Amino acid sequence: MQWGPRTKTALRHLLSICDLGRDGILSILDRAEELRTRPADPHRFAGRVLGLLFFQPSTRTRFGFHSAMARLGGTAIELHETKHQAGMTHPESLADTVRCISAYCDAIVLRHPSEGALEEAMAVSVVPVINGGSGVGHHPTQTLIDLFTIRDHRGHLNGLRIGLAGDLRNSRAARSLAAALIFFPPKALRLMAPTGRELPEGLVCALPAGSVETRGTLDPSGLDVLYMAGFREQHGCDSVPEDLRQCFRLTGARARSLAASALVLNPLPRIDEIDAEVDALPQAAYFEQSALGLEVRMAVLSDWVSGPASRPHAGAPHHVEKER
Ligand code: CP
Repeated sequence: MQWGPRTKTALRHLLSICDLGRDGILSILDRAEELRTRPADPHRFAGRVLGLLFFQPSTRTRFGFHSAMARLGGTAIELHETKHQAGMTHPESLADTVRCISAYCDAIVLRHPSEGALEEAMAVSVVPVINGGSGVGHHPTQTLIDLFTIRDHRGHLNGLRIGLAGDLRNSRAARSLAAALIFFPPKALRLMAPTGRELPEGLVCALPAGSVETRGTLDPSGLDVLYMAGFREQHGCDSVPEDLRQCFRLTGARARSLAASALVLNPLPRIDEIDAEVDALPQAAYFEQSALGLEVRMAVLSDWVSGPASRPHAGAPHHVEKER
């Protein structure tokens, strides 16, 4: 896995948060901030079309991009039953599906359970592809939302005491946020995960030496930001026993050790990692975090949906003799 910025190609895709680099991330956060204070041009993307291809369930990412495109005057179209699905008589490959759909759109948002699927789509798409969450490793737009929420509350991103809790190995939101912290070195990064569910070693090694501390249980004390990644059931992955899940659950009692100014974040959906009674605490910011996703996704689209509304990739018409 490559954690540094990737080489730019002619068509700019968004696979990983690392593609953006520090300046790219800050530029999107600044644009999202502008959109909060100054309404966007509601006709900016008139005539433009965003394709939403989700091969895994989604509420926030799918609705967030759909709403963001609508507020900028464009249209979003979604993939429903297609010949890509195995249940159809003749399944179609992802590559063929993306190749055809990309010719109808100005950009694509793709979510897929496999990491490789995104790269495969990017290789054949004739328009930019934005990663809406892939495999267990990448969720760049979620990370932008997380960073935007943190900066909004704390005023800055560097030098914070951040805790990540849950199944860090299989949470693409947690892994993507940890990768972003390479650009915004924390004062302390507390990794709280059960044995076997720790953040991958390669990613831990890329983080600032000396800042990382590990715990086998949930410890919210002294943190500026507590990121509750939870435990999502993954295909091909044993579920975490109930008694172990309980050790990482933010109950009302455990939340009492949070600093008054701390921030509790969660990418949502919440399964059982945060008790409902925590919602009423001033530190609970996860629904606000979800709401801020709208401005962040509008800012992302401003970068990735651009150029003329005509279709340069459709090619010049072939010569046709006039029939009489
Ligand atoms: N956080 C997130 O990606 O939510 P959805 O799965 O609902 O899109």
